[in-house]
Amino acid sequence: MNDDALLAQARLAADRSWSPYSQFPVGAALLAENDEVVLGTNVENVSYGLTNCAERSALFAAISQGLVPRRFKAMAIYAPKVALISPCGACRQVLVELMAPDARIICQGSDPDATRVWTLAQLLPGAFESF
Ligand code: THU
Repeated sequence: MNDDALLAQARLAADRSWSPYSQFPVGAALLAENDEVVLGTNVENVSYGLTNCAERSALFAAISQGLVPRRFKAMAIYAPKVALISPCGACRQVLVELMAPDARIICQGSDPDATRVWTLAQLLPGAFESF
């Protein structure tokens, strides 16, 4: 699946966002080793700290479904309320843990010309890893 097709899936995921507090929907589409796509969206809570980002929602759903951690090939992230979305620090640590080391992180906001593809090393240089 190419980047544009994966971004289209991320847009679908963003439509499912539960973000009444921030009004900032985000969608993530995770491409597994077997080419299965798992969607995730941000899910907020009135107790704000309980919010789960789209990226972690997708990864946790995929692993819960039995897909193999550390072999996810790519993740597309889409957020329509910002020119270019960039994953938060907490999600970067989780991405490093669970994606394949050479995974593509494809990020898009409201400006398609600003779309970026990042590596994990670019997103979190010098990451803490215990194995
Ligand atoms: N959010 C994500 O889901 N992913 C990101 O990469 C950045 C932030 C969510 C968390 C919260 O629901 C809303 O966006 C505003 O921060």
